[in-house]
Amino acid sequence: MPPSARPRRRRLIARAASVAITLAGLAVVGAAPYAQQAPVLVSVDASKTGPTLNRHLFGQFAEHLGKGIYEGVWVGTDSPIPNTRGIRNDVVAALKVLKVPNVRWPGGCFADEYHWRKGIGPLKERPVTLNPNWGGVMEPNTFGTHEFLDFAQQIGADPYLSVNVGSGTPAEAADWLEYLTTDQPTALAKERAANGHAAPYRIPILGIGNESWDCGGNMSPEYYTSQLRVFSRFVRNFNPAQQDKDRMLKIAVGPGGGEPRFAEWTETVMKSWKGRQWSWDHMDGLSLHNYTVVRFPAAYKSVGFDEQEYAEILQDTLKMDRLIREHSAIMDKYDPEKTVALAVDEWGAWYAQLPGTTPGFLAQQNSVRDAIIVALNINIFARHADRVRMANIAQMVNVLQAMLLTDGPKMVRTPTYHAFRMYVPFQGATFVPVTFDAGRYVQGAITLPRVDAMAARDATGTLWISLTNVDPKTPIDIATTLTGMTARSASGEVLTGAAIDSVNTFDAPDTVAPTPAAVTLAGNRLSVTLPPHSVTVVGVRP
Ligand code: AHR
Repeated sequence: MPPSARPRRRRLIARAASVAITLAGLAVVGAAPYAQQAPVLVSVDASKTGPTLNRHLFGQFAEHLGKGIYEGVWVGTDSPIPNTRGIRNDVVAALKVLKVPNVRWPGGCFADEYHWRKGIGPLKERPVTLNPNWGGVMEPNTFGTHEFLDFAQQIGADPYLSVNVGSGTPAEAADWLEYLTTDQPTALAKERAANGHAAPYRIPILGIGNESWDCGGNMSPEYYTSQLRVFSRFVRNFNPAQQDKDRMLKIAVGPGGGEPRFAEWTETVMKSWKGRQWSWDHMDGLSLHNYTVVRFPAAYKSVGFDEQEYAEILQDTLKMDRLIREHSAIMDKYDPEKTVALAVDEWGAWYAQLPGTTPGFLAQQNSVRDAIIVALNINIFARHADRVRMANIAQMVNVLQAMLLTDGPKMVRTPTYHAFRMYVPFQGATFVPVTFDAGRYVQGAITLPRVDAMAARDATGTLWISLTNVDPKTPIDIATTLTGMTARSASGEVLTGAAIDSVNTFDAPDTVAPTPAAVTLAGNRLSVTLPPHSVTVVGVRP
């Protein structure tokens, strides 16, 4: 269904309270007017640890949508754009830097109309089909299963396949998994070998449908749950050697956005998990989709917006915390041990499409505000890391809140890319609680926390602190007291731009790029000034 027809369901229901705001894991204390220039005190006790920030929190999503795959990733082997087996070298090189842990494919809504057999075999013999969800354009199927797995391997990411539940069958999906994973010489394995890959593939993550309450089939929670039971029985890893080592994780369709009806969805799916004798075979994760969009159809601009829209979008993005809390509470009733992960496998900003771009292609620019959205959301995931163990930003290239934009042979890294790059050290690190007075940023009727902070310690003992200044007008001095470790040195990077809507373009690709942060360390007191509308990440070495 075209985006304009959909997402009333993702509309923000509740607005943040305007005076006292509480975020998970931190205390936001009252009214520090931002005219006041006293440093914001941040306390970190590095000896106190929380859950691991699963590396899969930094996952991505690449759908057959607009120029996300075709042009963005796949240019074909005959292209003058440098490529390896049809996959753009510049995109691969840029993504490798991000250590992308997993990439979800082929959708999205596209997944529930995707028939994998159309995307295997000799390229020239593949049928051209339609992509009704996204512009009704032709789908050449030249980027199929083998090409996706090649791409995942080139960037070093785990593949996360989403199987077609809406218009497919358990047999079709089971065949796909047998084709991919079996090490027996079955007809499907021989076909895989004939198509160039004799060795079994490893599929560590599998989605059972996508948004089955909407574009994935308009199912009721009860109907979806029946489908889940059937699919999860038949669609499996057919390679025993792989099962022993690293069992394939199954992600069930969960809620989308803040509509009250999604409480019933989570309840129904979790109840069904609880009732299963072999519950481990049923699902390992429940997805949550949540876009930052004030209302659909998305009308807010991705560049050229004013401070009011800046504030409204940031207010909207913070609803992620409430959604995670609400659905985690339901999950806790059936799964107090938190065996089932909450997988936020679609998140990010959804703005009006750029003027002059193809309807349904979801092309948007990416500004400093988007880098702040990255920091705020990842910080929320980190505070819920005991339950939230996977997340996938939407999407990877050229679509929605993308890492990279391409135009023919040109490629540009977005502010979102840079924020992800700065957060790489948090992958697999151990959460360390921080306390601080977030103060208030006020714009019209909107009041938001002015500062956000999150910390984690990596395997080498380095403490990483992320500090975000939401305030678009005023710099903030931060004074951090570190206990529980001896700090020997510190350095950091800051990401900002001249304006809240500063962007990178093909002509000026480095307008928004990280620069060294002026960090000072005196004993165990660390000081840094956060420019307006900025994200800073500091590493403190023991
Ligand atoms: O990311 C774009 C679309 O948003 C996905 O295809 C769908 O799952 C969601 O509605």
